[in-house]
Amino acid sequence: GAGKGMDKWILMTTARAPTNIAVIKYWGKRDETLILPLNENISVTLDLDHLSATTTVAEISLSGGRFQTCLREIRYRGEDFKDEKKGICIKKEDWQTLHVHIASFNNFPTAAGLASSAAGFACLVYSLAKLMNLKENCSQLSAIARQGSGSACRSLYGGFVKWTMGNELNGSDSLAVQLVDETHWDDIVIIIAVVSSRQKDTSSTSGMRDSVESSALLQYRAKTIVPKRMIQMDKAIKTRDFASFAKLTCADSNQFHAVCLDTVPPIFYLNNTSHRIINFMERWNHNEGTPQVAYTFDAGPNAVMLAPNRKVGALLLQRLLFYFPPPSGTEPTSYILGDTSLLEEAGVQTVKDIEALPPPLESKDSVSLQRYPGDVSYFICTKPGRGPMILPGDQSLLHPETGLPK
Ligand code: DP6
Repeated sequence: GAGKGMDKWILMTTARAPTNIAVIKYWGKRDETLILPLNENISVTLDLDHLSATTTVAEISLSGGRFQTCLREIRYRGEDFKDEKKGICIKKEDWQTLHVHIASFNNFPTAAGLASSAAGFACLVYSLAKLMNLKENCSQLSAIARQGSGSACRSLYGGFVKWTMGNELNGSDSLAVQLVDETHWDDIVIIIAVVSSRQKDTSSTSGMRDSVESSALLQYRAKTIVPKRMIQMDKAIKTRDFASFAKLTCADSNQFHAVCLDTVPPIFYLNNTSHRIINFMERWNHNEGTPQVAYTFDAGPNAVMLAPNRKVGALLLQRLLFYFPPPSGTEPTSYILGDTSLLEEAGVQTVKDIEALPPPLESKDSVSLQRYPGDVSYFICTKPGRGPMILPGDQSLLHPETGLPK
């Protein structure tokens, strides 16, 4: 390590940050370099026990433009740091020359296409900010994480989070604000269907660039539709109005995928399984007369479904397992991940329970009662969660003496 007249030392911080799912989508930038959005958007932060990134930063040179931007922005704001016991004394300006070691992992499969960049950049910025003793609050840090990946700015907070447009040319006020924390609507149940797919999806970055260049629907959406939806969604969240929340969430997801189709060349993120899930959820909602479930899809075929409480969550899980049973030989415990306590409530703990599930009422009179084993890789049951957190030293991913990965 560098610093003032001392032996070797390594200063380390380990943090964990959640991922998030947008309920009003971010799609399209007005500035590519600063990553400024074309429209405001809202997300819900997911429980970091089930979907998070963990990062240890210690004092490597890394290439990659976006990473360098985040590091530069944090370094420049670094403050003095003193730990007399360890004999560490770092001056503000030392952060510029200190070498950073970074180790990071996701507690969910990166290949599953579950917005890993959001948790990853949020975690990097948060841990570096703690390491370098920054005074900035989470909103100010979110404006740095935004320059790593747009959606990452929303992972600096728990609960429901809005990414504001901002007016400044330098982007400093395009940041995340918390609408409500994770306790405000804590009975919400979230189930993610990780859909089996062979094709490689178009990256969000290039997909949205093509949409900005070619889709007239995107322009209309950003200017006319989203501003109204933002007001309605904010209200639905604050008043815990699930029916309005579900209608807006589904409509916004479907419009985002309509924009993708309106793009030249068209982008297809949803596949047949995604379409089937939409049909099943719509049929259920319509049959009950009021929305039971909200669904939303990002830049890939995986479905994120939200139910208002555990009771409806259990009914949702029963339906999903009816339509998408595990392939034969797969135990429920390796097919349903995350908060598996919902399995008891749904009364499906064994393969036999799943086989014996009756067809959902709304499907009774449908011509075919087909089930689709193997079309979903697995489900993750989770809930809204808190923002990033600092982990104790013993959970570090880097060796305390060498600063190298453990
Ligand atoms: C469909 O944040 O991954 O998930 O800013 O280019 O890194 P970049 O894109 P990214 O885009 C996310 C798009 C989305 C919608 C959303 O999360 O709001």
